[in-house]
Amino acid sequence: MSLIEVKNLSVKIGNKEILKNINLNVEKGAVTAFVGPSGSGKTTLLRTLNLLQLPTTGSIKVGNTVATAGRINAKVVHDLRKNSAMVFQQFNLFKNLTVLENVANPLIYNHLANKEAAEEKAIEVLKSVGLAGVVNQYPVTLSGGQQQRVSIARAVAVKPKVILLDEPTSALDPELVESVLQTIAGLAKEHITLALVTHEMEFARQIADEAVFIEDGQILSKGPAKELLSGNTSSTRIDSFINSLKRSAIL
Ligand SMILES: Nc1ncnc2c1ncn2[C@@H]1O[C@H](COP(=O)(O)OP(=O)(O)O)[C@@H](O)[C@H]1O
Ligand SMILES: [Mg+2]
Repeated sequence: MSLIEVKNLSVKIGNKEILKNINLNVEKGAVTAFVGPSGSGKTTLLRTLNLLQLPTTGSIKVGNTVATAGRINAKVVHDLRKNSAMVFQQFNLFKNLTVLENVANPLIYNHLANKEAAEEKAIEVLKSVGLAGVVNQYPVTLSGGQQQRVSIARAVAVKPKVILLDEPTSALDPELVESVLQTIAGLAKEHITLALVTHEMEFARQIADEAVFIEDGQILSKGPAKELLSGNTSSTRIDSFINSLKRSAIL
């Protein structure tokens, strides 16, 4: 079953067509990895799935909510965002709130729980990402890896239908990457639907079910992650991209 359906989506910013006729499905309970060169439109695609960016043509369906270009009002945005949560490259935590408040507050604001229940849920989720010991600290006192795990906990806590992750480890020091990847692998194991933009090819190959290769605002190819990310497909372009990332991981 598809949880996300994208049909004939294009996104123009100013005169520039950033995404061109994108068609894709994200399956429920699966991990879909989005890969491709820098500037190819991956972030724009994820932002559009959450309506942080509006489509110019086409439509997006997340859960039961359909957003059609030109017909998107505040209610559609609100309804669609109830289905998804986004994890950003730069964490986007509230600096003036504690770790606990960062995770609990969205539950309270979205009327998903009262303060007491929200804090209980936040502690449970923070524990599951290995952060039980820092709940009363402020984000600035944490490592980048811990901050990113807080932001993953914040996404998980609201129980969205899908979590959208935009290069969640690319702003981290190399030694902090592993703990975040492990956290994401934990979500995959629980069959939480994930749409993951990443340059971590080995990781994507291990945990992703489907992969989508994006170049120049278009889907160049999509298919089973193990095949598409193998570095040994029928596309020289895709293989050279995948293999160049493998090499840079070794160096
Ligand atoms: N707000 C914006 N205004 C103008 N151009 C943008 C904007 N956001 C993204 N772009 C352009 O869209 C293209 C795709 O960007 P992006 O989605 O960030 O790619 P990726 O995440 O794959 O690196 C790039 O050429 C980028 O410069
Ligand atoms: Mg990006």
